[in-house]
Amino acid sequence: MADMTTKNDGVPAVQAKGARIPLLGLGTWDLRGRVCARVVEQALRLGYRHIDTAEMYDNEREVGEGLRSSGVKRDDVFVTTKIWPTHFAPREFDRATRECLARLRLAEVDLLLLHWPSPRLPLAETIEVLCKAKRDGLARHIGVSNFSVPQVEEAVRVSSEPLVCNQFECHPFLDQSALIAACQKQGMAVVAYSPIARGRVRDNDVLARIGAAHRKSATQVCLRFLVQQHMVVIPRTSKVERLSENAAIFDFSLSEPEMAAISALAQPGGQSR
Ligand SMILES: NC(=O)c1ccc[n+]([C@@H]2O[C@H](COP(=O)([O-])OP(=O)(O)OC[C@H]3O[C@@H](n4cnc5c(N)ncnc54)[C@H](OP(=O)(O)O)[C@@H]3O)[C@@H](O)[C@H]2O)c1
Repeated sequence: MADMTTKNDGVPAVQAKGARIPLLGLGTWDLRGRVCARVVEQALRLGYRHIDTAEMYDNEREVGEGLRSSGVKRDDVFVTTKIWPTHFAPREFDRATRECLARLRLAEVDLLLLHWPSPRLPLAETIEVLCKAKRDGLARHIGVSNFSVPQVEEAVRVSSEPLVCNQFECHPFLDQSALIAACQKQGMAVVAYSPIARGRVRDNDVLARIGAAHRKSATQVCLRFLVQQHMVVIPRTSKVERLSENAAIFDFSLSEPEMAAISALAQPGGQSR
């Protein structure tokens, strides 16, 4: 099971198979151009130490620019990128990963993920090319994204290197308990994407009521609910003023009854509300 730890620099992080992943990251899907570079730079200046991108987001260049203009040291930031399944053949994977690094202008990423399982290629072959990228020094850690319970179990069984996380959609409106338990059983961190349900949690009455008791917004309560369960969250915003709101989730705790009330928002059968 992944442990929750705190880094020396005070950045709360989860530890999984040798990786320390900051619990709060900045999602960057759909952030482009100058907005992307500016939001990444501001996030790092405000104390974010984890940035999530992907070759498919078409913004790695701007993520790298934001990183450099923030003045934060490279080694103090945890950078994740992901390779799209059309690039999973061995030579393609190597080329695609090196192109990500060239766009980011980094020698290696902290975490390299398979963005989705391939519908075409055998999982064992794909996991092997991912492991090779780590052995070749292109990534400090490797993991998967959008893997189901059986896919997580098979991936761990065939992998010759530790798989440190599964990144998948996770927020209070979605029942992901089986997948969370499967990841914990394998010692993998859960990285929750769309953690604020693409902005929809803001309008939820239960979250707003709990938030009022803590002088926090519904969005902050939602993010706290996830990190309090040792899940990494990567909310995205294009608005600099919301970066601070989404980061102010480590100065309060939710009680057991509050956690239970939020858990009850998930619809049976894993449906998103
Ligand atoms: N692995 C995968 O397949 C996968 C899939 C989806 C996402 N992801 C990753 O996960 C990240 C986050 O997921 P997401 O972008 O789908 O959705 P999200 O972070 O749940 O929600 C983003 C939306 O919420 C709004 N928002 C942000 N902060 C807010 C606040 N404090 N109050 C109210 N609204 C707020 C944003 O609007 P404004 O911009 O107007 O603030 C945006 O519309 C992505 O950016 C990406 O890095 C990965």
